Amino acid sequence: MTQIAIVNGSVQENNYLGFALEILKNEFKKHKNYSVNEINLIEFNLPFPGEKIKNDDSVRLRKILKSADAFVLGTPEYHGTFTAKLKLMIENSGYPSLLKGKPVSLLGIASGTLGAVKSLEHLRSVCSHIGSFTLPRVVSISHVESRFNAEGKCLDKEIENEIRNLAKNLINFLTSINKHLSA
Ligand SMILES: Cc1cc2nc3c(=O)[nH]c(=O)nc-3n(C[C@H](O)[C@H](O)[C@H](O)COP(=O)(O)O)c2cc1C
Repeated sequence: MTQIAIVNGSVQENNYLGFALEILKNEFKKHKNYSVNEINLIEFNLPFPGEKIKNDDSVRLRKILKSADAFVLGTPEYHGTFTAKLKLMIENSGYPSLLKGKPVSLLGIASGTLGAVKSLEHLRSVCSHIGSFTLPRVVSISHVESRFNAEGKCLDKEIENEIRNLAKNLINFLTSINKHLSA
């Protein structure tokens, strides 16, 4: 079974990012050899490097990261970049990072017209730095508040397809690596 960890980098209750990641999760679930582990960062009280916090959230996080074969990192755009909580997750992922050597797909959302392009470029740069393999295809959703209704239903078929294609693209990539390795 291939384990995909889907990380939600939002810390807002009922976040829009969760709506997009739900579609992605359902797409992975259509494929029988894949299982999904969700990491909602809102549920993790993580320390900054060197800081002591009396909980085992960092250990719990690393356990999930270690068991993952590939990742989808999701982020809202905050002040032209990805969220501080997502960066903190990366700080807590170990040094070297547990994402090193593993495939990563990126999905970003934003209120603005430009979407989450800047966040995704910054995130790609950090992911490359820590040695993960960031897939070229990303999803950037602009005007996110108009793309979903209050129940989380996606109102834009094209965007829904893009999200589903992100999952398919990662699955195709993993399938081709596995074929190559077993050849
Ligand atoms: C601190 C903060 C900074 C933000 N900066 C941007 C930004 O730079 N560009 C943008 O398009 N939207 C920006 N937004 C809007 C968020 O992208 C938008 O609220 C998004 O829905 C948040 O995602 P979430 O609902 O999944 O948490 C910002 C929101 C907050 C709270």
